[in-house]
Amino acid sequence: MSIRRSPQSPRFRWSDVTDHALYLDRRAFMLAAAAAALTPGGRAEAAPPAPPAGSPLKAARNPAYALTDPPTKLQDITSYNNFYEFGVNKDDPARLAHTLRPRPWSVEVGGLVARPHKFDIDELIGLAPLEERIYTLRCVEGWSMVIPWIGYPLSALLKKVEPTSQAKYVEFVTLMDPEQFPGQKPGLFNFSSLDWPYVEGLRLDEAQHPLTLLTFGLYGQVLPNQNGAPVRVVVPWKYGFKSAKSLVRIRLVADEPKTTWNRAAANEYGFYSNVNPNKDHPRWSQATERRIGEFRRRKTLMFNGYDQVASLYAGMDLNKYY
Ligand code: MTE
Repeated sequence: MSIRRSPQSPRFRWSDVTDHALYLDRRAFMLAAAAAALTPGGRAEAAPPAPPAGSPLKAARNPAYALTDPPTKLQDITSYNNFYEFGVNKDDPARLAHTLRPRPWSVEVGGLVARPHKFDIDELIGLAPLEERIYTLRCVEGWSMVIPWIGYPLSALLKKVEPTSQAKYVEFVTLMDPEQFPGQKPGLFNFSSLDWPYVEGLRLDEAQHPLTLLTFGLYGQVLPNQNGAPVRVVVPWKYGFKSAKSLVRIRLVADEPKTTWNRAAANEYGFYSNVNPNKDHPRWSQATERRIGEFRRRKTLMFNGYDQVASLYAGMDLNKYY
């Protein structure tokens, strides 16, 4: 992802600032790590309990969502990530995500619903049968992966809370906690002008679509922290940034949610952000993508190949509603 600071200031790409960001990043984390390791008395504190990431998570494979393409290597899925709460570089999340504590955890589901409820994470996992579904993840940056996710359709959760007739959109909010997400500390990455917490959104019918997955694991395991533990959403026909990680709030609302990347650069990251090879990003083509682990670029497919969602956009100009 890359953004510009404000309409007035000159445009820049993350690649332009990476060296500085990396410098700030490493220096700040070394300082933070040193500070965290010491009590005021100077003694090392006991290590926090190991998160359950990586432990097995059982799920029945759903053959309706299999792919002929082989899954991307687990090593790549868990080491090449976008999770700006940990930093702007692809390897930051894997290096730094140990600070995230995915237990105890709860997710508040509310807004325009008849039955708002704060779900403990284990209650949430148990709400519907877990399925394994193999989806392609296409990032707006032009790379993709094939990932065997574990979860259940978000619609199962939405049904439980009973959206009212005023509910038209669903807003997803990531945890805000600079102690667990060092990238949220003021002054660290704030030159990026990303507003925290990370917010994403879908239209209600998109959220209710059977493809939209509330996700708790991948590759037979509990979600690794860097992939959005303990719970994220996965929306396979949209660019990856629509799939918000480490959720603490899901809210049914009447108006289109103000989403993080859209607020950062509305002309570059639209609310819909359906994968669309015919609508280029203002600064690069979306016609092709690099599958992680492959050498040649391949053609990007409309809706990332998930043609079954086309009817959601019947009559809409997808160049305007990008
Ligand atoms: N969610 C949060 N909270 N913060 C992020 O920075 N990055 C998004 C999305 N969800 C992001 C996020 C982007 S740009 C992508 S491509 C995917 O997560 C990457 O998911 P992965 O790292 O599990 O492959």
